[in-house]
Amino acid sequence: MTRHLRSLLDLSAEEVDHLLDLAAKVKKDPADYSAKLAGKSVAMIFAKPSTRTRVSFEVGLRQLGANPLFLPAGGATGLQLNRGESNHDTAKVMSRFVNAIVIRTFAQAQVEELAEHGTIPVVNALTDVYHPCQALADMLTMREHFGTTKGQTLVYVGPGNNVTSSLMLAGPRGGFDIVCGCPDDLPPDPKVLALAQAEAEKAGTKVTVESDPIKAVAGAKVIYTDTWVSMGQEDEAKALIARLEPYRVTNELMNAADDDAVLMHCLPAHRGEEVTAEVIDGPRSIVFDEAENRLHAQKALMLLLMGGASWS
Ligand code: CP
Ligand code: NVA
Repeated sequence: MTRHLRSLLDLSAEEVDHLLDLAAKVKKDPADYSAKLAGKSVAMIFAKPSTRTRVSFEVGLRQLGANPLFLPAGGATGLQLNRGESNHDTAKVMSRFVNAIVIRTFAQAQVEELAEHGTIPVVNALTDVYHPCQALADMLTMREHFGTTKGQTLVYVGPGNNVTSSLMLAGPRGGFDIVCGCPDDLPPDPKVLALAQAEAEKAGTKVTVESDPIKAVAGAKVIYTDTWVSMGQEDEAKALIARLEPYRVTNELMNAADDDAVLMHCLPAHRGEEVTAEVIDGPRSIVFDEAENRLHAQKALMLLLMGGASWS
């Protein structure tokens, strides 16, 4: 059966554990995996900008012996998708040429449609709704820092967005609690919140919302923030920045969390907006370990999805 990563709902808690174990091995002994995907090609369709995701997928796939094809969705030399070719036909054609699709786009439905109509794995490299590859790297980083993700409390501070949604699903998969410190008028996606709470109940973890940032971070092991203006929201930037001022991660907010709390951020960061320079550039920040782990977590993911490693 062809497996995908449309969202973290595509992976069980056991599979996430297994993937993170593999990621740690790949990180430690990369040479052991250097030919595991030899002869395979991956279409990397990007409809939004990227630094980390693009580079970590391209480099990671090459390190596994695969051939990544960077394909801008739009522009004069972009894919025919941009001129109205359907997801259906794109999926069927890509399935004849390549062994997997990695896609960063706007609509989650586009990821779902490519997966539905193709015969190859489809990986969500960020949509307006989810960013599952980021959450896998985040869990790898938490494991490294705390020894386990289990029993931790991660508090997301900022506007509800795609990163928030993937973290809400990561909690139940990784056995940790999630608190969304989001303003009432910029809440986490209500449908994903309901899904995540149902998953959390099964997993014995919690996903809650607390709009007061100081109250939200009480007991946090991780304070996590993201840009206040996501890609595609540029027209609302001024209003978002003004509204989110009380949600800036400062030393004062860090001090209201657990004594050993760390800062995580998916990046790109905007110093002086969602986080102060002294926090993100200070001793409690693990954001660059987190960025590096995109590479290792995605290499493990692609090995599993593309037959370079087994699921058990
Ligand atoms: N965190 C992340 O996805 O970064 P990029 O937008 O640079 O890929
Ligand atoms: N929420 C951000 C994440 C960037 C990696 C965005 O969608 O732009």
